[in-house]
Amino acid sequence: MELVITDSAADAGVLAGRIMADHVRRGARAIGLATGSSPLGAYRELIRQYQAGDLSFAGVQAFLLDEYIGLPPGHPQSYAQFIRDEFTSHVDFTDENVHSPDGNAADIPAAAADYERSIAETGRISVQILGIGANGHIGFNEPGSSLRSRTRVKTLTPKTREDNARFFEDDLTQVPTHVLTQGLGTISDADHLLMIATGAGKADAVAAAVEGPLSAFCPASILQMHPHVTVIVDPAAAASLKAVDYYRFAVQNKPTWQTF
Ligand code: GLP
Repeated sequence: MELVITDSAADAGVLAGRIMADHVRRGARAIGLATGSSPLGAYRELIRQYQAGDLSFAGVQAFLLDEYIGLPPGHPQSYAQFIRDEFTSHVDFTDENVHSPDGNAADIPAAAADYERSIAETGRISVQILGIGANGHIGFNEPGSSLRSRTRVKTLTPKTREDNARFFEDDLTQVPTHVLTQGLGTISDADHLLMIATGAGKADAVAAAVEGPLSAFCPASILQMHPHVTVIVDPAAAASLKAVDYYRFAVQNKPTWQTF
C-alpha cells in the first residue's frame, strides 16, 4: 500500500485523476467509478485531459460501485445519473459503456448477479477509484460486510443516510434505506485500488482502514489484503495516521522507475 499525503484536497484530486488517466492510456479495458464528493476532483482532471486532447475513453467500459434501490431512473441522485452529470457526459464515454447495478429491477437479487456477470464478461477492472464513508464503508459496504462479499443488497446505516441527506435537500425521508453494491470481494478483484479521502471528517476512518486491524467493522480495511493500493489524502484526512513521517519519506525517496 502506498500512502500519499498531498498539500491540498485539490492536489489529491489531480493526482488521482492522473493515475486513472495513465491506466486508460496504457489500454485499460475497464475502469471502476465511484460517486460521492470524494472523486469529483479526479473526474475534473480527467475531463481536463480529455478537453486538452490528451485522453480518450473510446472503447473503455466503466462500472459503478453501487446504486440506490428504488429511485426512479433519471433521479438526479441516482448514481447512474450522478456519474453521467458529473463525469461521463463531459468526455467521450458512450452511455452503453457506463454500467451500474439496476436499482429498479423487479428481481433485485437477479440484478446483483447480472452485474457480477457483466463485470466478469468484460474482464478485469484496471483501476477502481474509491471514496470512504465516515464509518469506514467503501461502495455501500457498511460495517459488518463480509470481507469476501459480492454484489448484493445492503441496508444503509442511520449514519450513512444522515451523511447523504445533504444530496436529498437535507430531507432524511428522501434517502433510500437499501442499495445494491459491489461487495468487498468484487472490489478487490480490480487490479489497482485508488482511494481518495479529504477533510477532517475522514481522518479517523482513514487511520482505521490503513493502520487498524483487518475487520468487517471497518470495510475499507480490506485494502490491506490487496497487492496494489494507493491511498491519497490531504493533510486534514491524514491527521489521525501514526506513520505520517514514514509515508512522506517513502514518497520523497521513491525510486524513479517506480510508478503508481
Ligand atoms: C457514499 C458512497 C461511497 C462514498 C462515500 C463517501 O455513500 N456510496 O462510494 O465513498 O459515501 O462519500 P463522500 O465522498 O461524499 O464523502
